[in-house]
Amino acid sequence: MEVIQHDVVVVGGGAAGIRAAIAAIEEDPNITVAMVSKVYPMRSHTVSAEGGAAAIARADDSLEMHGYDTVKGSDFLADQHVIEYFVEEAPKELTLLEHWGCPWSRNEDGSVATRAFGGMTTKRTWYAADKVGFHMLHSLFQHSMQFDRIVRYDERFVTRLLVDDGSVRGVVALDIRSGELQIILGRAVILATGGAGKCFPFTTNGNIKTGDGMALAYRAGVGLKDMEFVQYHPTGLPGTGILITEATRGEGGHLKNSEGERFLVQYDYGVGNKAELGPRDMISRAIIQEFEAGRGMEGPYGQFVHLDLTHLGEAKLMERLPFVLELARTYIGVDPVTQPIPIRPVVHYMMGGVDTNIDGATDLPGLYAAGEVACVGLNGANRLGSNSLTECLVFGARSGRCAVAYARGSSAGDEAALRRQAEEEGARIDALRGKQKGGEKLAQVRREMQDAMEDGCGVYREQASMDAACRTLAQLKGRYADLVLEDQSKVFNTELITALELGAMLDVAESVAVSAAQRQESRGAHTRKDFTTRDDQNWLHHTMCFFDPAGPRIDRKPVKLGHWEPEERKY
Ligand code: FUM
Repeated sequence: MEVIQHDVVVVGGGAAGIRAAIAAIEEDPNITVAMVSKVYPMRSHTVSAEGGAAAIARADDSLEMHGYDTVKGSDFLADQHVIEYFVEEAPKELTLLEHWGCPWSRNEDGSVATRAFGGMTTKRTWYAADKVGFHMLHSLFQHSMQFDRIVRYDERFVTRLLVDDGSVRGVVALDIRSGELQIILGRAVILATGGAGKCFPFTTNGNIKTGDGMALAYRAGVGLKDMEFVQYHPTGLPGTGILITEATRGEGGHLKNSEGERFLVQYDYGVGNKAELGPRDMISRAIIQEFEAGRGMEGPYGQFVHLDLTHLGEAKLMERLPFVLELARTYIGVDPVTQPIPIRPVVHYMMGGVDTNIDGATDLPGLYAAGEVACVGLNGANRLGSNSLTECLVFGARSGRCAVAYARGSSAGDEAALRRQAEEEGARIDALRGKQKGGEKLAQVRREMQDAMEDGCGVYREQASMDAACRTLAQLKGRYADLVLEDQSKVFNTELITALELGAMLDVAESVAVSAAQRQESRGAHTRKDFTTRDDQNWLHHTMCFFDPAGPRIDRKPVKLGHWEPEERKY
């Protein structure tokens, strides 16, 4: 097996991963950084982000306001020192990105334009029309190419962390093109592999978002934090789940029910009148309530409501939301200039993830995580739209710098012991590739997992449905061992990759369901029909979920409060 040696290994080539790699190399230009990605970096899921990235830019805004909106959005489950660092770094990171080529849209006077997003008290979301992820990723990627010492390993699927003497020393990566395994050693490893939306049937997430990094850390003994908090984005296309950006509502779009009513004006988020600019958890619940009241419309993929942009006019739509026009016309044959777009809540984002501190460091020495794969404590029980792209930059950068500092003081580990682990991993993968004995089909197990997650851990939850999801997932993990695979070849064996991804998703999905089933309150995106209110007395803490062969083990961790006192969340 080929052994490759670097100082820092970054797993993932999206915004968080590239930002981490750049920060690492800038911290110490003499090191080398491996950037190992399942896809070519420009195909990372960041590319599909649409609406924008949050940071204060206007005279009527302040760090205090951005911080307060974020902690309130989190339903007070965020760690407040993390929020304070985040809001302060956010404008610096977005400005830096402009220097690297990101074409932020401008106001008439040349200043950076900002748009409204849900749950934010003022226009704080920087944008580049509605192709923000594309432009950010391009800027990051092209900037990274000036550093010869960032060495890319594209189309490599990392299947295992290598741990020796209690510290992470590298990874095992499957070269998808050749089918061969490689050992990529590094004195620190940063996970930046994104979320796990594909555990659910309807999601804005691309097919690559299968929780790989979460599963790697979890299996190595690191806790997954706050996994019960899964964000539904109110406006996905039924069927495909393709994102129709929240910027549509920021620019003035309306949601309408089967009676043509702009129903959100009737919903009281506590103070009233935020309507389409309420936070995602509350709007998603309002849509489900419309469905339950019989005011949804019926389609081949279940109920939907309308997102109406027709009053905004073609010129504005062309200028601000050209991608939405393209998506609606291409994927559902609807022209938003003249017709409303059918939408439904779909899974968009995992607030939970690999437990890290503010440096991105996990409890496993040498292992860092940043971006959606991580739970640094920024988003709590509900993330505000447009905070996540900025999060990728702020905490990607910090984890890159901190990983270098750690790597300086650590040793390479026992190569023979690491090789033995990699060989074990090779045997596991060889046994899975083209596995002839077994009766279970990949697609069937995956579908049952997704259905169990939607039924048990959807917008609304209750004990019986979450317990049922836990039971189904435990059974599916047993059935996974009985998979039958047909493709024994090595080159681009996508069936093998799909099987490895499914294994990761089953672990992650189970951690979501088990974490959800134990939290007996409603907070943010975790909304229970049987415990309808927030209970700070008993539940103002993070959930920690640990891997155990006998089934996930749950623990808790204190929330770091600060000067924002928990209060009832009203909009
Ligand atoms: O709707 C959107 O454009 C999504 C943004 C986000 O999740 O931050």
